[in-house]
Amino acid sequence: MADPPHRPRIGIVGTGFIARIHAEAYRRLPGPGVALHAVTSARPERAKAFAAEHRVATVAQDFDSLLADPAVDAVDLCVPNHLHAPFAVRAARAGKHVIVEKPLTGAFERVGDPTGLLHEAIANCDAILDSCDAAGVRLMYAENWVYAPPIQKARRLFAASRGPILRIEGEESHSGSHAEYARRWATAGGGSLLGKGCHPLGAALYLKRVEGEARLGRPIRPLAVVGATARLTASTAHAATPQSYLRSGWVDVEDWGTMIVTFDDETVAQITAADTVLGGIKNYLVAYGANAVVQANINPNTAVVAYAPAPEIFGNEHIAEKIETKAGWTFPAPDEDFMTGYPAEIDDFATCLSTGRAPQSDGRLARYVVVTTYGAYLSAATGQRVDLRPYLTDR
Ligand SMILES: NC(=O)c1ccc[n+]([C@@H]2O[C@H](COP(=O)([O-])OP(=O)(O)OC[C@H]3O[C@@H](n4cnc5c(N)ncnc54)[C@H](O)[C@@H]3O)[C@@H](O)[C@H]2O)c1
Repeated sequence: MADPPHRPRIGIVGTGFIARIHAEAYRRLPGPGVALHAVTSARPERAKAFAAEHRVATVAQDFDSLLADPAVDAVDLCVPNHLHAPFAVRAARAGKHVIVEKPLTGAFERVGDPTGLLHEAIANCDAILDSCDAAGVRLMYAENWVYAPPIQKARRLFAASRGPILRIEGEESHSGSHAEYARRWATAGGGSLLGKGCHPLGAALYLKRVEGEARLGRPIRPLAVVGATARLTASTAHAATPQSYLRSGWVDVEDWGTMIVTFDDETVAQITAADTVLGGIKNYLVAYGANAVVQANINPNTAVVAYAPAPEIFGNEHIAEKIETKAGWTFPAPDEDFMTGYPAEIDDFATCLSTGRAPQSDGRLARYVVVTTYGAYLSAATGQRVDLRPYLTDR
């Protein structure tokens, strides 16, 4: 009789916003799923509460203790961006498979000329990819947009059309990130363009990659980028607003950014991200071809449209992430996590861990995202278009 499939044992690092979403997705996996074996956090009392709530078997004192536990097969890094590279490298060296939240990493020092940031970010990416390769462990990049059902439908529709995607327009925006680490370059590695733009950018790079593999037998890669950023809530215009509903007080990061990416098949993607948009989270991507157009409305969408004359009428019922009011016409998300791709992402990673196959969202995609974004930062600082070819190795 064949051995039953191995049930991977996960160690979750961090117990904040995204760790909760991952834990919920692990718990709901179909079939044998995974074992939530250990959790650790900067605050031990939070780790204990998290373990009780999400039925995690053990609480590790700190990251080192979690790595020292031979029962842990894979670590899931749900920690602030500046910890991704050092933690991923240590996890790989300890022989653990690694799931890393977005962005894979970045540049946190912010010293020297703007080219230095791009080089630092690439060095951090390569440290992660090299350690995973050397240890023979799997790197899984938690870009949930790759798995979002509307993006996967766009992929299938364009595959059926057989035509190229000529232009992509994508945006993730809302009224301001909740997390403290996101306010500072030293812990976030950038502002809206990195933290939010990585989602539509990751999806755009993924769609062009799979298009290239299917049509040309090779991935279509980003070739050059132009970027611009602004600090809108620090502007004199914002200071003149009688009452702002936006989060402000960003220490040294942008709250708006945009980039135009040119691919090596002469097609383009326009990516925008902001922490200065009211009306709930805005997650969409439109792909324009010569024989098809597909608009992927992750959030908001019109699956449900509701009206209430006063905000208290819908009580505690969730409407949509970061919406300011439940009054008036709204677009309540029936299952926001599902639409945003988290369950499918965790399902793919669990399958990779139990079968050894590669994930759809991998280290190469993660590296493209980092290189393109820091290319956009360099462009924003210099006013020049940045040629990405010297920085893109196919790993
Ligand atoms: N995919 C998505 O949609 C999405 C959404 C939000 C955040 N994220 C990513 O997830 C990561 C975490 O963001 P968040 O919003 O959950 O932040 P958060 O502030 O809510 O949680 C961060 C967690 O990291 C823990 N932590 C910090 N230092 C630690 C250490 N030394 N050892 C162990 N734990 C430590 C904290 O205790 C906390 O539990 C970020 O990289 C972010 O970009 C992804």
